[in-house]
Amino acid sequence: MHVHRYEQAWFYFTLGLLIVFFSAVMTAALAFGVNVPSPQGVVNPNDLSTTDFAEPGVRQLSDTVYEAYVVGRMWQWDPAEIRIPAGAHLKLYITSSDVQHGFKVMGTSLNIMVVPGQVSLATHTFDEPGEYLVICHEYCGIGHPQMSAKIIVEPVQEP
Ligand code: CUA
Repeated sequence: MHVHRYEQAWFYFTLGLLIVFFSAVMTAALAFGVNVPSPQGVVNPNDLSTTDFAEPGVRQLSDTVYEAYVVGRMWQWDPAEIRIPAGAHLKLYITSSDVQHGFKVMGTSLNIMVVPGQVSLATHTFDEPGEYLVICHEYCGIGHPQMSAKIIVEPVQEP
């Protein structure tokens, strides 16, 4: 079969691009720890009272591992403040009790779609102390621009 020289050139160019894109995705995932939040289950968004989201907040699981249950609702994050020590490995479970929201932690790779009825899990290790601003990045109504929270990573005292 005869393939025109130009067509052949474009074919190899396209193949090259695919390899570049695939390498970029793998580098982001493996070298920079960018992971897609995974669905962990379903809840009834109208009744979170029988779930772990009944009392949103942070719990310590071990020396360095913490879990947080966060609920997005118009127009606030509950809790609006998460406090953990530096070096903490945070397992963040999140859902919405009304419409779709977006949980983006500035300065980190944490970026989660918050879908009513769906529980999403994302993990992140906070090595740098400081205050991390959380914004909602999915338009959710009139109060959307005010929908923010913060994650406070406290420096660990040397004994
Ligand atoms: Cu919640 Cu925008």
